[in-house]
Amino acid sequence: MSTAPASASGAAQAAPAAGAPAREHAGATAHATPRSPLGPSFDSVTPVPAAAPAPAPAVRIDGVSKRFGTGPVVLEDVSLDIAPGEFVCLLGASGCGKSTLLNLIADLDKPTAGRIETPAEGAAVMFQESALMPWLTARRNVELALRLRGVPRGERREKALTLLDAVNLADAAEKRPHELSGGMRQRVALARALAQDRPVLLMDEPFAALDAITRDLLHEELERVWRATGRTIVFVTHNVREAARLGQRVVLMGSRPGRIVQEWTIAKTTGRRIESPEVAALSVEITDQLRKEIRRNAA
Ligand SMILES: Nc1ncnc2c1ncn2[C@@H]1O[C@H](COP(=O)(O)OP(=O)(O)OP(=O)(O)O)[C@@H](O)[C@H]1O
Ligand SMILES: [Mg+2]
Repeated sequence: MSTAPASASGAAQAAPAAGAPAREHAGATAHATPRSPLGPSFDSVTPVPAAAPAPAPAVRIDGVSKRFGTGPVVLEDVSLDIAPGEFVCLLGASGCGKSTLLNLIADLDKPTAGRIETPAEGAAVMFQESALMPWLTARRNVELALRLRGVPRGERREKALTLLDAVNLADAAEKRPHELSGGMRQRVALARALAQDRPVLLMDEPFAALDAITRDLLHEELERVWRATGRTIVFVTHNVREAARLGQRVVLMGSRPGRIVQEWTIAKTTGRRIESPEVAALSVEITDQLRKEIRRNAA
């Protein structure tokens, strides 16, 4: 795994030129690029193809600030582009504004200044507490999300079972939440979030209450689901190891006011485990920055 600390400006990019909106990249498309003067008849020289157009970001956060009433500024001038299919971890100390930012992306609240663009289909949200309906079985909890999405009654059962199977919970489909472990409940919550079939999945410390082994298992399952579904994931955590284990990009937020201070792009994301040396090395680097940020705030 290689890591590349990016600028602290907040103008984040998942990959070279992957973050800007399509309209700003109109000049970089194959159609708009002037043809190379080196035609095919030019012996032994192959014209370089025009660069592929950069995809529009799935989520664009542009100069966003947030203040609750007359309270202090919670978020200040946050800008972040998240590419389609990207897995971004938002990391920061408690109270720095991670949940506030996630709620703004989810359109559960409005920014005081700036703009947020998300796909027209919106985003699914998964919180730390699974918030399942206690009187419904795992399957029926997932079916409820399918019903709200407008999936016809006759198709819901099979679809719900497929989603529960995707999170390794097929055997527990007929159990109710109180009969499930915390990890199983979060799996149902993940299946329910996937049932909403939104291109963007926002996760606010979904595994924070779980023990280390269960969390490790759920990391693997989430990674598998992410790779299989191509969802764009924004994952909030204050656990550095978790961010280094899961993210393609780790975005570190500072506190008071909340803003982006640094980010790391992880080139090789396959085969990572929480105990992998590269995850440990990146965690040390991120923790150093996080400590500096916390000290700066305490000063
Ligand atoms: N509805 C609200 N009204 C007033 N202040 C709020 C509201 N929601 C959040 N805040 C304040 O905004 C700041 C950021 O809160 P937020 O919940 O976003 O932090 P966080 O980074 O998610 O923290 P944690 O890691 O503990 O979950 C805090 O100071 C909090 O008190
Ligand atoms: Mg929070």
